[in-house]
Amino acid sequence: MSINAVRHAFERQSAACDALGSPFTARLCRLISARLTPGGAVADRVLNWSGDPSPQADSVPLRLAGCLHALVLESHAPDLASVYPPHDAADDRLWNAAEKALADHADFILARLRSAPQTNEVRRSGALLPGFLTIAALLGKPLILSEVGTSAGLNLQWDRYRYRLGDRVWGDPASTVEIAPDWHGETPPEALISVLERAGCDLAPVDAAKPAHRLRMLSYIWADQQDRLLRTRAALDIAAAHKLSVEKADAVDWLRTRLAAARPGAVHVIFHTIAWQYLPAALQAEGEALIAAAGERATAAAPLARLALEADGNAHDGAALTLQIWPGGAKKKLAAEISTADGSGGRVGDVSSPATDVLNLQDLYSVIGDSVNHGERGSRYQQLPEIATEALPGKWMILQETFSASDFLSGFLGALRKHFRVIGSKPNQIMSRRWKIDQPHACGLPG
Ligand SMILES: C[S@@+](CC[C@H](N)C(=O)[O-])C[C@H]1O[C@@H](n2cnc3c(N)ncnc32)[C@H](O)[C@@H]1O
Repeated sequence: MSINAVRHAFERQSAACDALGSPFTARLCRLISARLTPGGAVADRVLNWSGDPSPQADSVPLRLAGCLHALVLESHAPDLASVYPPHDAADDRLWNAAEKALADHADFILARLRSAPQTNEVRRSGALLPGFLTIAALLGKPLILSEVGTSAGLNLQWDRYRYRLGDRVWGDPASTVEIAPDWHGETPPEALISVLERAGCDLAPVDAAKPAHRLRMLSYIWADQQDRLLRTRAALDIAAAHKLSVEKADAVDWLRTRLAAARPGAVHVIFHTIAWQYLPAALQAEGEALIAAAGERATAAAPLARLALEADGNAHDGAALTLQIWPGGAKKKLAAEISTADGSGGRVGDVSSPATDVLNLQDLYSVIGDSVNHGERGSRYQQLPEIATEALPGKWMILQETFSASDFLSGFLGALRKHFRVIGSKPNQIMSRRWKIDQPHACGLPG
């Protein structure tokens, strides 16, 4: 690649950093673009980069910014630290200190330039949580978690953080990690969550217990984003305290193993954030086929869910949160927009209203009410499932109301069970002689 292509890559990164709230990294990239000249070992490696240096490929600007930040975090370069945030130095002082660090620490930098930047954005847990709550509310089962491209696994332990999502406070009140995105849309559903098992894989896993791995992770956080640094450090501490381990494996090989066995009594949730999009197309197709086949094998006793936060191809560079549940495979878009381009979930937008996709029994009555008048109940309830299927194709129904014993209801639910796969986790409530349903209970429509 030409020197101009490298300079252009730093300029583009600079613009992106400006847009994403890191004016310091934007300035650093601009200075490197304008002032880095051939002659030093690092400058020669960077300016004559053998591959594509752009942010879409080798991300050379982020590699170099990460090297300099690592020197500051490790206290290896006091002069550089004195011009790094929270200090505010003029361009000349910043550039002189950066140029000196490139010369003084060339071996350290040349070694680190070989690896791609590695990130793990904890705030994405704030976007995932509504998805996990929806799964738990719909299925009422404990969760088995499998995260693909989990990095250090910081979003694999989402239930160890505390959250403020609109009006809803959720999670461990004593957690050192708080996630409070700018929330738009409906308050997510309430549900009891229990995580039975968690596992994750990554091609380049980060071990939260290893100082060198932690440094690698923290160095790629932009130096003027102190809140992200503090949050990531705290999340790494939690991961290390729980001995969270991430398997080094390719997504598809790992999924094949994870999906091989059914796990009755729990819902197996496959999830990924800003990771699937990095798989080559052939691997993506193989992974999709594996998940679809596992979905076909899923049963009411061993359901499968897939929760994904990935770029949605829209012009605003945002990401969408989608949820798919088997048996049935109904797919819904939970959040129309996770606004920032890093998919951090700093703002979670427009969670779709349950009223449009999920119906409670009251809604069901309002749609098919004419068919269910009191006089006809005894004979007509048997037809309710057909009527509902016709009126509400592809909808979910949650039976949230509390009912006492009633012949009508027992007949109605009995009929539903013949026509729809009941995927709630409280079979005893369905089987019980007293029809008392006081927990959200989901039926797939149509089954
Ligand atoms: C942008 S990072 C996102 C990390 C994390 N999911 C998050 O949202 O913070 C993408 C991750 O996907 C991993 N990755 C890329 N291709 C992969 C593959 N084929 N198999 C497993 N992990 C992969 C990378 O190593 C990296 O950790």
